[in-house]
Amino acid sequence: MTVTDDRFAKMKPFNAGRVARIPERSLPPGPRWPALLQSIALVRFRHRFVPAMHRRYGDVFTVRVMPKGSALVLFTRPEQTREIFAGDPEFFHAGKGNAILGPIMGEHSLLLQDAGEHKRARKLLMPAFNGAALRSYRGVVEELAAAEADGWRPGTPFRSLDRMNALTLEVILRVVFGVTDEQRLARLRPLVNRTVNVSPAVLLGWGYPFLQRFGPWKTTVDNQHRLDEVMYAEIAERRAAGDLHRRADVLSRLLTVGEDADERPISDEELRDQLVTLLLAGHETTATGLSWALYELGRDRAQLVRAQRAADAGDDDYLEAVMKESLRLHPVIPMVVRHLMRPATIGGIDLPAGTNVGPSILITHARSEHYPDPEAFRPDRFIGTNPPTNTWIPFGGGVRRCIGAGFSLMEGVTVLHEVLRRYDVSVPAGFTDRPKVRNITSVPQRGARIVVQPR
Ligand code: HEM
Repeated sequence: MTVTDDRFAKMKPFNAGRVARIPERSLPPGPRWPALLQSIALVRFRHRFVPAMHRRYGDVFTVRVMPKGSALVLFTRPEQTREIFAGDPEFFHAGKGNAILGPIMGEHSLLLQDAGEHKRARKLLMPAFNGAALRSYRGVVEELAAAEADGWRPGTPFRSLDRMNALTLEVILRVVFGVTDEQRLARLRPLVNRTVNVSPAVLLGWGYPFLQRFGPWKTTVDNQHRLDEVMYAEIAERRAAGDLHRRADVLSRLLTVGEDADERPISDEELRDQLVTLLLAGHETTATGLSWALYELGRDRAQLVRAQRAADAGDDDYLEAVMKESLRLHPVIPMVVRHLMRPATIGGIDLPAGTNVGPSILITHARSEHYPDPEAFRPDRFIGTNPPTNTWIPFGGGVRRCIGAGFSLMEGVTVLHEVLRRYDVSVPAGFTDRPKVRNITSVPQRGARIVVQPR
């Protein structure tokens, strides 16, 4: 089975279904600049723009975003965040805001669904991410992380982000897709890499199917077709395999879940869409969190020694605290958004239908009343205590909370364990890094360079 151009043409432009512009007076304050300028500031310069808006307008403010100058109201206090995460999923939609990803992820994608369809997709995927499933993946992650760390050249600075990206891609291919055949892996790697690297400009042009005959759009469609061919071949082989129950990867688990669920069985197209979603949502995000963790440990000898001791002792809780603090200080995703399908009151503010609302993860994680000295990297914040509810939200929340949160923490702990057991980590003399925007995520601008020496 292959995906035809029809399917791409069928995808709605990403702004389909939005309501008309909401008048200023009914919304919290915000800048009055043109929506285009605000969108650019939010997308390209969010690390300066959002804190500046918070300082200027307070804990709740409105920005206007393209394409139609839609209102996006950002909240920064945990009690407001709680109301958003607890909002009725029938009326607090998240899928619409992700529609731009439709051409790549496919219409069945968990990220694009809302209400009943989202609930069904989530029910199918959840068993592949429960505690027992996560434990069963750890061995493969360990093996891949050990092979990656063994290949590092001591004394030569390198971009930890690139190495972590290569590693988490391998993890997805083996643990999520369950591909072990070396030839198929070799075919998949470049196809998957190109899919992950699709630029927002290509996605924005998707509303115009004629573009698919030209330049980057054509390249993207061709790549997508080739990726789909390999994935559908893998799905067909796996459906025919007699040993699914003995396989531990996510795809095999999804196929067995489909068997005994009394709902309609999971189709090939749906499987493909969910796998591509897991790939795109789970690969660079985890790699980024890991590279910041290595960078921060590399800058602070005392924290490094503490984490190495934890690695030697098999103290997973401490290594998990390192990952959590990395995700607090450097949120990979700066905010999550819900689209109001009917009027709602949040933080005592009445908001009309059609408003987009969301907590700013950036500001929430930097509030000094919850995280004293918020700029400092201190994993101890997460030892022996949990942060107050809704003050640590790198994975979003409510029924949409990241389905891979446990997976990525397990992966982070396993990788840190393998690296820290082997190496002393430092950053090159005089090197500093800061976040830059890459598509919807924030990554270390200079790749979070580190140097390792055998211990
Ligand atoms: C550090 C790593 C990660 C971060 C920071 C992260 C962050 C997020 C965030 C903020 C959301 C939106 C939540 C919301 O709207 O409330 C999300 C959703 C999602 N994430 Fe992750 N994620 C990470 C890793 C992963 C991994 C490893 C996977 C899968 C293997 C994954 C799969 C997904 C999926 C499928 C969704 C959509 C959930 C839904 O709409 O029901 N993520 N993630």
